[in-house]
Amino acid sequence: MSEPEVVFRLESVTKEFGNGRSLLGLNRSAGVRALDDVSIELRRGEVLGLVGESGSGKTTLGRILVGAERATSGRVWFEGTPVEALRGGALRNFRKSVQMVFQNPFTSLNPRRTVRDVLNSGFAARGLRRGAQRAAAMAELMPKVGLSEAFLDRYPHAFSGGQRQRIVLARALTVEPSVLVADEPVSALDVSIQAQILNLFVTLRRELNLSIVMITHDLRVANFLSDRIAVLYRGQLVELGTREQIMEHSRHPYTRMLLSAAPTGDPDAPHNRPWLVGDATPADAMSGGCVFRDRCWLRTIVSDPDRCATEQPRLAAMEDQHSAACHFAEQTATAAGVLLVEAEESA
Ligand SMILES: Nc1ncnc2c1ncn2[C@@H]1O[C@H](COP(=O)(O)OP(=O)(O)OP(=O)(O)O)[C@@H](O)[C@H]1O
Ligand code: SF4
Ligand SMILES: [Mg+2]
Repeated sequence: MSEPEVVFRLESVTKEFGNGRSLLGLNRSAGVRALDDVSIELRRGEVLGLVGESGSGKTTLGRILVGAERATSGRVWFEGTPVEALRGGALRNFRKSVQMVFQNPFTSLNPRRTVRDVLNSGFAARGLRRGAQRAAAMAELMPKVGLSEAFLDRYPHAFSGGQRQRIVLARALTVEPSVLVADEPVSALDVSIQAQILNLFVTLRRELNLSIVMITHDLRVANFLSDRIAVLYRGQLVELGTREQIMEHSRHPYTRMLLSAAPTGDPDAPHNRPWLVGDATPADAMSGGCVFRDRCWLRTIVSDPDRCATEQPRLAAMEDQHSAACHFAEQTATAAGVLLVEAEESA
């Protein structure tokens, strides 16, 4: 089998915020490490789900991909070139090729601009300057996102949340991107509308051969769309695998915890095991050791070894495409089974 083509490669990317002195130079702010030594690839044509709780660094990673933030250390490669080395035409091509779609379609559209106005600027950036060219491109684009051409002269207030998200997608598509970074694109929408927008992503990805980074705190969304899923915890990549590996055979106790907390709609589903959730209170800054150790249910089962507190686990390959950052990842499935039996016996 040929190697998949890599669009983005992140190499040991760390991002820190607010790690400086105050204006008078008196106080040094503690700073936040939003991403910690993250290495990952985005392959051509894949949907990579990026999951994790609030504050885990998902948006920061997305913003680094689109060039809205720079990594504090580490390197980001786009189509084989470090992003910071892109200049001139190559930089313009990068900016056009990688587009971000945000969570809230109610705030991401200017209320005083019609759909036509919104799309016009994108077409101008693509060099479609003549009216006839643009009109043809708009007529082609609107049905692609499931909207009628008749909507072009309407203002955002005339549209529902789902329709607005379709307009936001159309705006992103005007420049013919090859990568979409979608940051919680359905979480502000009614559940009934979410499926329609997710289906639109599926169709667009197939028709336009897009690579998509789907940022979501909702594992159902990641499960629906993703080829691979990356799990972030406090800025660290703790597990990476195919959709099936993560959803059915996860090796990191944090991923198991997320799955157990995820609503599935089926009370008997194996994921509905709230006894694995643990304490969600964020810990004070911990130095050294495993970043998950203050919440880890597996650590207790494997008799609280010192290693969890003294040695940071690195992301290690488990099987083809599947890797996890836990010293005891080989024991996760068995330990979860033991917990399940205990819970059933005490019920
Ligand atoms: N511009 C910024 N300045 C300071 N801190 C920031 C900034 N952006 C993000 N952070 C911090 O970095 C960490 C990661 O934030 P990020 O927004 O990437 O998380 P997230 O996973 O997207 O969370 P959510 O699910 O709530 O959107 C958080 O602690 C956040 O407060
Ligand atoms: S290394 Fe230890 S604390 Fe960290 S996830 Fe694994 S068992 Fe839990
Ligand atoms: Mg976010």
